[in-house]
Amino acid sequence: MNITVSPATAVKGSISLPGDKSISHRYGMLGAIAEGITTIHNYSTGADCQSTLACMQALGAKIERQDGKVIIHGGALREPGEMLDAGNSGSTIRMLSGILAAQAFTSRIGGDESLSRRPMGRVMKPLALMGAAIEGCGGSDPQGAQFPPLTIHGRPLKGIDYTLPVASAQVKSCVLFAGLFAKGETVVREPVRTRDHTEIALKEFGADIEVLGNVIRLAEGAKLRGRELVVPGDLSSATFFLVAALLMPDADLVIERVGMNPTRSALLDFLVGIGADIQILGVQQTGGELIGSLRVRASKIKGGAMEGAMTAALIDEIPGLAVLGAASEQGLTVRDAGELRVKETDRIATIETNMKRMGVTIQTSADGFFIPGRQKFHAAECDSAGDHRIAMAFAVAALAADGPSTITNAGAAGVSFPEFFSTLQEIAH
Ligand code: S3P
Repeated sequence: MNITVSPATAVKGSISLPGDKSISHRYGMLGAIAEGITTIHNYSTGADCQSTLACMQALGAKIERQDGKVIIHGGALREPGEMLDAGNSGSTIRMLSGILAAQAFTSRIGGDESLSRRPMGRVMKPLALMGAAIEGCGGSDPQGAQFPPLTIHGRPLKGIDYTLPVASAQVKSCVLFAGLFAKGETVVREPVRTRDHTEIALKEFGADIEVLGNVIRLAEGAKLRGRELVVPGDLSSATFFLVAALLMPDADLVIERVGMNPTRSALLDFLVGIGADIQILGVQQTGGELIGSLRVRASKIKGGAMEGAMTAALIDEIPGLAVLGAASEQGLTVRDAGELRVKETDRIATIETNMKRMGVTIQTSADGFFIPGRQKFHAAECDSAGDHRIAMAFAVAALAADGPSTITNAGAAGVSFPEFFSTLQEIAH
């Protein structure tokens, strides 16, 4: 699907966004293994989170949808009849592997072409230390790269004390999910703090979990119980609307009830730090997660740099921030972002290709890029390459272009945000 986006000068109105993708995955998986009924409000409408529900259904959970709610009847899982399909979703395959590794059956899990190119060794290694038997697609070299599909032979697992070699919330979550079924305590140590939705959700579902600094301890023998939960709006999806507003000479936009978890809200610190006028309107707690509304108004954006822990905290936001960087005064430098090379696409490459198509200068390196500031976007045909965040980032860039631009493969936005283009149309004038 191709979508043409016309230039705009104003972004105005009030919007609410689908539920957070990361939190929806976790509630979907935990609801399916918890005893009893879990009711989830504002579950993400994105295709990735539907992949998680389809997998949990194939594993025996009964799932109903009623007036925008997802109702999961959880309990013991059963052997799936066919290969589990994680679609485009790295979170689904990596986190669910931890659960599957401990079941009394064998399962296979794979996904689309993009997912089939994403590294799985990062979850296979700690799971092997716990006693799991998993085969991936890759060479027979035990140190070699491994890719989906995975064949997971369930085994009794034992807890481990594991220091994450890469900053990855998916790997952390995979180990903790396996730890729910393991004998003994499971400890995960993080070099850099990553999103902590798993820790919060596990506590909500009744697990005995303790977080001290960067060390997470999960006691053995968790008895999870079904819960009623509300998923906050997705702050990563909000990025594109914040950037759209900040690109416009005339902007006043309210984004209602989005997640404000401190391990995600580095985005707001970064934007305010480079000059964005963003107000947080009232913060509440739900299911252990913070939720609040944002008001963003037209601003003069200085631009800046990110590296280290800041880059890790903003990793999903970089495509959107790159667009803002080009229009800022000093531009944007991104360092330590090698992980972008193994996302849904090689995002350093897909950002570079599309920036160049729009006539924007960018210098890339193995693990980052520099985009000089004060640049103009020229109308162009941009290609998502099947990557939802690239589709949305360049749709927003198109608002600031000198004529109508086309986004090819625009349907990719549906991976996290099927309503993206209609929402953009509502607020951009
Ligand atoms: C996610 C963790 C991050 C992020 C992804 C969602 C999660 O991936 O990029 O979009 O829900 O845990 P990594 O764990 O690979 O850093």
